[in-house]
Amino acid sequence: MKNLFAIIGLALLVASCSQPAADQKSGSADSTAQKIERGKYIVTIAGCNDCHSPKMMTDKGPVPDPARLLSGHPENMPLEPYDTSTAKGWMLFNMNLTAMHGPWGTSFTANLTPDTATGLGSWTEQQFFTAIRKGWYKGIEGGRMLLPPMPWQGFAEMTDEDLRSVFAYLKSLPPVKNAVPAAIPPGQ
Ligand code: HEC
Repeated sequence: MKNLFAIIGLALLVASCSQPAADQKSGSADSTAQKIERGKYIVTIAGCNDCHSPKMMTDKGPVPDPARLLSGHPENMPLEPYDTSTAKGWMLFNMNLTAMHGPWGTSFTANLTPDTATGLGSWTEQQFFTAIRKGWYKGIEGGRMLLPPMPWQGFAEMTDEDLRSVFAYLKSLPPVKNAVPAAIPPGQ
């Protein structure tokens, strides 16, 4: 019986060792594509589009606009006025789910496409890790912290591999030029 377990164990070990080798053989082009595919999957299930993609109205309700995927709060979208006395003690989302108001002021979701001037085009993977793992705006340590409702504290738990995949996917998106407005401090 002991021998049988040893043989099964050995067989599993051989199988698991031979798998990465098979992946490597398929070449780096394929593994980049796989990374991007996994990144897309994570971004989709983690709900990044809910906040970072402008929406378009369909007969099934609002959906992320494929032409502006993950490009953040549209630069030319005005903020609707709101009743400050009703808003007291509440957090508000605009109808696009790209601008949010609360005790931190008003925040606007960032452009995560690889546009160099307005998105993540010039970001290094290290900056992305610093933003998601430690919550620093632009991934620059010692700058300012990311504002709510960016749920980085939860995303910080992603494995290195998953974070790398998410970054690879974001870098693979068509760049969208959209200069997201600066956050508005409380009381302004
Ligand atoms: C509930 C809404 C929400 C969700 C969901 C969300 N974000 Fe954000 N995110 C924001 C907001 C708002 C900001 C801007 C915060 C600020 O200005 O400090 C932001 C900022 C960021 C930044 C920093 C950009 C910069 O210029 O510093 C990155 C990177 C980011 N989000 C990535 C993601 C990724 C990746 C996901 C999904 C895994 C995601 N976000 C999901 C709301 C959200």
